[in-house]
Amino acid sequence: MSRLLVIGCGGVAQVAIQKCCQNSEFFTELCIASRTKSKCDELAKKLEGKTATAVTTAKVDADNVEEVKALINSYKPDLVLNVALPYQDLTIMDACLACGVHYVDTANYEPEDTDDPEWRKIYEKRCEELGFSAYFDYSWQWAYDQKFKDAGLTALLGTGFDPGVTSVFTAYAQKHYFDEIHTIDILDCNGGDHGYPFATNFNPEVNLREVSAPGSYWENGHWVEVPAMSIKREYDFPEVGQKDMYLLHHEEIEALAKNIPGVKRIRFFMTFGQSYLTHMKCLENVGMLSTTPVDFNGQKIVPIQFLKALLPDPASLGPRTVGKTNIGCIFTGIKDGKEKTIAIYNVCDHQECYKEVGSQAISYTTGVPAMIGTALVAAGQWNTRGTLTTDEFDPDPFMDMLNKFGLPWVVDENPATVE
Ligand SMILES: NC(=O)c1ccc[n+]([C@@H]2O[C@H](COP(=O)([O-])OP(=O)(O)OC[C@H]3O[C@@H](n4cnc5c(N)ncnc54)[C@H](OP(=O)(O)O)[C@@H]3O)[C@@H](O)[C@H]2O)c1
Repeated sequence: MSRLLVIGCGGVAQVAIQKCCQNSEFFTELCIASRTKSKCDELAKKLEGKTATAVTTAKVDADNVEEVKALINSYKPDLVLNVALPYQDLTIMDACLACGVHYVDTANYEPEDTDDPEWRKIYEKRCEELGFSAYFDYSWQWAYDQKFKDAGLTALLGTGFDPGVTSVFTAYAQKHYFDEIHTIDILDCNGGDHGYPFATNFNPEVNLREVSAPGSYWENGHWVEVPAMSIKREYDFPEVGQKDMYLLHHEEIEALAKNIPGVKRIRFFMTFGQSYLTHMKCLENVGMLSTTPVDFNGQKIVPIQFLKALLPDPASLGPRTVGKTNIGCIFTGIKDGKEKTIAIYNVCDHQECYKEVGSQAISYTTGVPAMIGTALVAAGQWNTRGTLTTDEFDPDPFMDMLNKFGLPWVVDENPATVE
């Protein structure tokens, strides 16, 4: 029995909400709130007669703490699931703290305006001290840890697929397969084809910022940063086939480096086709990925936001995308004094997702774990207080729910490794 407020109604939110409504014995009441209320109303209409969950909608600007507080105080949820954008993480966390409700999200904080001088000062210091230059990092949200502990609340950070499930896979490997994990390679393969020469599978602004940034990995206690797309490997993904993949910085590396004792190296690879890379490089070279506003015909325009308006809406890719994703981790380490290697992964079919919830697999693989993390915190099964990532809880109930709610996983005890 839980009353949930979901903020955001984009690609990921639409899946998370439909999955909550499939779990209506637990999520008895749900309010969908977003900037554009018509999208919330449309989804609520689609759910009519299909779920026992009582669904309502609201309009909220989550950049405004007072607005979020007013909504929480009127709806009185047990928990807020933030599936808006990473820009809203801190304002929603502030509102949750002020109102005494738990908080869950799928991506760590980054500012919308990376030219903000106050943010830049802290960012540049962090780049120097930690050695990676991605715009996002956990420090902003980890700084809320004591406040959430003092309030007796949980903030579950990053419960999508990666981050999210990849960190649950790590906790599961640690609990059931290893005495000590030495290396973790997280592999994110999208073997899907949407038929467009260029489109992003989730929010274009957040996605393009992430993949055009320098790559970095964790090795022997520190970060190693490399130019964007400069480390390339090939991997033969079960059920998808041979793909090129590139090393990226990714947020779960930061949490796993802190939380997995004895880990020596953590890397993250994502597959990209040549067409995607060529388009991205060209857009970057002409300045279209810039977040700095430019004057155009007397108006201020942020190039990457304008680009977002031109690109296909990720939520519209569902009917066109065919093929599968394969996302998971390869672990090496020691068990009972012997070296051991395993992989844990999930394969998800774009068209199956579309048939079930009307979305492609990237939104699906993020929305399902968002619902699961939310359910575990709301049920009190995951009840450590503070700001925590998914690797810091018992993985078993999460792994069971992945099987139950559409993302079954495989343990391969003899996987190919990455050089
Ligand atoms: N962990 C993972 O595996 C993973 C993978 C993919 C994505 N993600 C994360 O999932 C989140 C959602 O991604 P998405 O692809 O669903 O994005 P999206 O389709 O762009 O949807 C974002 C939603 O947030 C709403 N929103 C934006 N600003 C808002 C504000 N100030 N107040 C209220 N609502 C606001 C948008 O409203 P409008 O309709 O008005 O624009 C839209 O409904 C992002 O944080 C993304 O980084 C995580």
